[in-house]
Parts: sequence; C-alpha cells; structure tokens
Amino acid sequence: MSGLTRIAVLLSGRGSNFVEIAEACARGEIPAEVVLVVSNRPDAPGLERARERGVPAVVIAGKGISREEHERLVIAAVTEAGARWVCLAGYMRLLSPAFVERFSRRIVNIHPALLPSFPGLEAQHQAWEYGVKVSGCTVHLVDADCDSGPIVLQRTVRVLDDDTPGTLAERILEQEHIAYPAALRMLLTRRWRLDGRRVVFE
Ligand code: GAR
Repeated sequence: MSGLTRIAVLLSGRGSNFVEIAEACARGEIPAEVVLVVSNRPDAPGLERARERGVPAVVIAGKGISREEHERLVIAAVTEAGARWVCLAGYMRLLSPAFVERFSRRIVNIHPALLPSFPGLEAQHQAWEYGVKVSGCTVHLVDADCDSGPIVLQRTVRVLDDDTPGTLAERILEQEHIAYPAALRMLLTRRWRLDGRRVVFE
C-alpha cells in the first residue's frame, strides 16, 4: 500500500474542484489520492469526470430515505474505500454531528465567499447583491453547522463595478481551484493544531 492519504470527495454537481484536487494529487503536489467520489445526485456531471479519471464514483441518493440512513450508506462507502479524509466539493447537504465526529478534523469544505460572510446557498450572488468590494473563497474544516468550521485558507477576489453574479463567480472559482489543493497540501504535509477556532500551522 502506498503512503498516500486516501481521500473521498463528496459532491452534488459539476465537480471542477474535484478535478483540481485529483490532478494536484496526480502531479504529486498533494501526498494523497482520491479513491472515491460520492454524489447524492444521480445527474451530477462530477460523476462522469471522476470515472473518466479512473476514480470509482457512486450515487447515494438522499431522496426517500432518512438523513441517518443516507449518512450510514455514505460512511460505509467511504470506509469501504479506505478513505481517511473527506473533501466536500459542492456537496449540498449538511452533515450530522455523528458524521462529523466519525471523521473528526478530517473533513474539509470549500465555500465561494469569505466566511463568516455569506454562508449558505448562492454565496457569490449574496456577496454581489450586498455590494461588497472584496469577496473570495474559504477552505475550512467542517463542523455540524453550515459553512462554519475553523478556517484553513482564504483567497480574495476584487468585485468590479461591471461584475454580474456570474462573472464574479467565475473569478472566485479560479481562486477556489488554487485554494483547495493548497489547503489540502498544507493540512497533509505540515504540523498543525486547533487553538480554539484558529487553525495554527507550526
Ligand atoms: C463551488 O463554487 C463551491 O465553492 C460551492 O459549490 C461549487 C461547486 O463547484 N460550494 C458551496 O457553495 C458550499 N456551500 P464544482 O462542483 O465545480 O466544484
């Protein structure tokens, strides 16, 4: 078995952040490999992007079953794949305290705003509408609340006068694609600790 950290990526859509993580792993920039992609949505384009790269991709639909049962199935798939870390990449479901505890301090998420501003859905649109002059993205450890865990890394994006929510989202996504692999590299290669809410790298 290789010394690489095994990662499962959970997604619900396009999967561009998954692709960036998988490619950074393949280039050796992150000492890890993506061993599984799980989508709660059968139509998520990210599933095909995983399979194209030879990464096993499964659908575990949330509809029609309880959150507890859904998470039991996701945890079983992740454990079966031997993944130690879980990366949320556009995964549009809130994890329960039990799930978070199961992978304590080893679940990471990316959010398209500078948290704690604009958590939740359509963060880029929220930021544009509010009129902020700077937005960006946040990579954070996951806790049981929405977009609220300790921050690992943030990257900023200037909001231009002629931006639309769409153009702003595009420039934030470019920064997400830098931030997520960089944050994983930091977490997996450097010593770090939690000091209250603060992720401190030594
Ligand atoms: C990304 O913009 C990510 O930050 C966002 O979903 C998109 C997924 O894109 N996540 C959230 O809003 C979580 N609150 P992708 O499927 O191309 O990676």
